[in-house]
Amino acid sequence: MTNIKAIASRNDLADAENSLVREYRALVDDLLAAPELAQLAGFRHHKLDRRQHVLNVSWYAFLLARRCHLDSAACARCGLLHDLFFYNFSEEDCGKSEHIRNHPQQALANARALTELSPREEDIILNHMWPMSVEHCRHCKETYLVACIDKLCCLLELSAAAWRCSKRRAARAWQNVRGRN
Ligand SMILES: [Fe+2]
Repeated sequence: MTNIKAIASRNDLADAENSLVREYRALVDDLLAAPELAQLAGFRHHKLDRRQHVLNVSWYAFLLARRCHLDSAACARCGLLHDLFFYNFSEEDCGKSEHIRNHPQQALANARALTELSPREEDIILNHMWPMSVEHCRHCKETYLVACIDKLCCLLELSAAAWRCSKRRAARAWQNVRGRN
């Protein structure tokens, strides 16, 4: 993997000296090596690529689950698998109920084809759009955790994109000012 850093994290997820990173990588290395995960880099997601988004969710869900003494393995793995679908949607489409309802089922089918899933992991993937989607009601604590981390990562990713955009605009404005003087 070329880029293996979660957004806003100081941890290099390729750092074999870091025991926390080693623990995380032992849980997800088989998924990170899968061509399906690499394929996600070809799809836009919250102004990033989807592979980066699922890596963000996976890392932060792992950390929080570990802190809360929940199933950190299920959270780390399902962070990577929860958006395993292969089509683009624009940010304007985010509110479309069809996408909100259908993509968790597609992600679950793709994840089942990729790896063996426990009932808890299936629940996390299928219900990660909670509370926007409430069709499937057998939720466990880890499902709520991943659903919340997914929303927080979305906010973080969109904020980072807006910040990059405003910095570019400010730099252009500054260049124009300097060009005139
Ligand atoms: Fe997501």
